[in-house]
Amino acid sequence: MTLIAPSILTTDFSKLSDTISMLQLSEADWIHLDIMDGVFVPNLTFGFPVIRAIRKHTTKPLDVHLMMVEPEKYFKEFREAGADILSVHVEVSPHLHRHLTTIKQLGMKAGAVLNPHTSLVNIENVLHQVDIILLMSVNPGFGGQVFIPQTIEKIRKLKKMLLESGSKALIEVDGGVGLDNAQSLIDAGVDILVVGNSIFSQSDPQLAIHQLKHSKR
Ligand code: DX5
Ligand code: ZN
Repeated sequence: MTLIAPSILTTDFSKLSDTISMLQLSEADWIHLDIMDGVFVPNLTFGFPVIRAIRKHTTKPLDVHLMMVEPEKYFKEFREAGADILSVHVEVSPHLHRHLTTIKQLGMKAGAVLNPHTSLVNIENVLHQVDIILLMSVNPGFGGQVFIPQTIEKIRKLKKMLLESGSKALIEVDGGVGLDNAQSLIDAGVDILVVGNSIFSQSDPQLAIHQLKHSKR
């Protein structure tokens, strides 16, 4: 069954508790939180106080996507704030193996994220350390962007790599995902769909989550 991880990036933050309570009642599997530092990506979002506040309103796993340089300085703080899954970009992680190990030692699932231009070669030596491989299907920084179609082939290649190596890592895709492409992403081998705009631009986000969740299988 495909997991759905709504990204709250483009929602109205003055109504954050309503949004999280709605997600708690929905068929969403995880809640995806985008942390941006204004350095690695050209945008800023939020940090520990907001994660802590969200944690109080949901029992669903918090899937924290770190778009920041030197994320390793804050792994412990993210855990304490309530993160269950912590994903770091390989582009800012010269010691990726060490970082994945530390994240797991802190009791979280460890994810490695690849930008659209970043080759799968970068993760082939950590396939047995990583819990989740997150493929960006837009250039990170903003919600509501257009899906990059080459991602489908990248997912197929990654799925093959995982099968051949015997790795149990899950494949997550993030950016421009919606009902129009969910089916082809699932067919290519995706386990987790991160979806922002396609859910929250709808008048009934819970229905949008339901439709994504039951798009197949
Ligand atoms: C982009 C973020 C995404 C984004 C997805 O940098 O990592 O999680 O919020 O939003 P949509 O689905 O609108 O592309
Ligand atoms: Zn994200």
